[in-house]
Amino acid sequence: MENSAKNSRLPGWYSLSLPERGRQLAEWLSESPGRLLPIMQQGGLSVAEADRLVENVVGVHALPLSVAPNFVINGRQLLVPMVIEEPSVVAAAANAARIVRAGGGFSVTASEPLMICQIQLFTSDTLRALGKILEAKADLLADAARADPLLVKLGGGPSDIEVRCLDDENGQADFLVVHLLVSVLDAMGANTVNTMGEALVPRLEALSGGRAGLKILSNLADRRMVTAQVKVPAAALEMNGFDGDCVRDGIVSASRFAELDPYRAATHNKGIMNGVDAVLLATGNDWRAVEAGAHAYAARTGCYKPLCVWSRGDDGCLRGRLQMPMAVGIIGGATRLHACARLALRILGADSAGELARVIAAVGMASNLAALRALTTEGIQKGHMRLHGRSRPGREKRGRD
Ligand code: MEV
Repeated sequence: MENSAKNSRLPGWYSLSLPERGRQLAEWLSESPGRLLPIMQQGGLSVAEADRLVENVVGVHALPLSVAPNFVINGRQLLVPMVIEEPSVVAAAANAARIVRAGGGFSVTASEPLMICQIQLFTSDTLRALGKILEAKADLLADAARADPLLVKLGGGPSDIEVRCLDDENGQADFLVVHLLVSVLDAMGANTVNTMGEALVPRLEALSGGRAGLKILSNLADRRMVTAQVKVPAAALEMNGFDGDCVRDGIVSASRFAELDPYRAATHNKGIMNGVDAVLLATGNDWRAVEAGAHAYAARTGCYKPLCVWSRGDDGCLRGRLQMPMAVGIIGGATRLHACARLALRILGADSAGELARVIAAVGMASNLAALRALTTEGIQKGHMRLHGRSRPGREKRGRD
C-alpha cells in the first residue's frame, strides 16, 4: 500500500492552513497537489454526474471533507477521511486515535462478507415445505449462482440456505422465511442478493406449493461482522487534571450505564455512529443500511445494548471491544462514481471491503472513546463549544491533536 511505511501521527495537523493540509495529504499519497486539490475542493461530484446517480436532480449539496490523523489499525498507519457537519467529531476521533496508539493501536477483524437475502413464502403446509426446501438446497444454490456467474468466478456467490418458520401471535405457523447466504466479496451486495433471491422464486414456489412474498436483503447483516479491540494504558487517558486511573474508571462506569439503560445506550451508540457514518459518507457507502444493521443488532436480545463496551483489565489497562454488522463495499454505486469517494478509498489504502469495514469499526470505537473520556471528565460541552466557535466568522483555528 502507498502509505505502509509512513507515520500517521501528525501533531498540529489541525492548526495547519487548508492549503498546507492539502499539500501534506498530496505528499502522503505521492500525488501532485495540483491534481489532488481540485478533486477535494470541488466536492467530487458534478451536477451532470449527480443527475446520472439519482432522479429529479437540481444541484449538488456539499459537506466538509476532513482527514483524521493518528490511526494505527492492525499495525497500519492510517489517515482517515471523514465527511460530517458536526463540529468536534473529527478532532475527537483523531485525539482518541492518538491515545490508542499508546497501547499499540486498534486490532480489528472482519468476518466473511456474507449477506442475507430473505424470501417470504406463504404455504399451507409449512413444515412439509421446510423439509422439501432443505432437501433441494444444492439445486437452489445452483439457481442462485446462475444469477451472478461473475461473482462465482471471482470466488464469491451463494453459500447456504436456511429456513425459518414464523409463527403468528397464537403460535400457529404463519409463513416460511428462506435465508439465502451469499458471499458478496467487495460489494455492499444489495443488488446481487436481491437478484439471486428473485431467481429462487420459481423453484421455491414449486417445492412449497405456495406463493412467494417479499424477496429482499436483510439489513441485519449479522453474518458480516466487524470486531475491534483496544487496550489502552490508563496513563494515556489522563486529561486536564484528571489522572488516568480516574478517567479509565469513569469510562468503564459510563459503559456500564449504557449496558443497563437503553436510553443511555442509544446516545452511546450515536457517538459510535458519528465516526462510522462519517467514513461511510466519505467513501460513498450506504450509511442508512449500516445504521439499520447497527441498531437492529444492538436490539437483538430484545433489549437495546451498546455496540462497544469498556472494562478494566487485570493489568490496569482500559480494554474496549466493539462488535457490529458492517455491510460496506468498495465497488458499485457512489463508491466509484464520486471522485471524493474514490479519493477517500485511496487515502485509506482500502483495497477490499473487509479492509474498509475494519477501518470503519476502529473509527466508531475512537469516537466512542473520545466521547466517554470527555463526558466522564470535563463534560462534552467545553470541547464541543470550543470547536463549534470556529464556525463563527473571525474565530481563530483551534483543535486537538
Ligand atoms: C454527540 O454527537 C455524541 C455524544 O452524545 C455521544 C455520547 O454521549 O456518548 C457525545
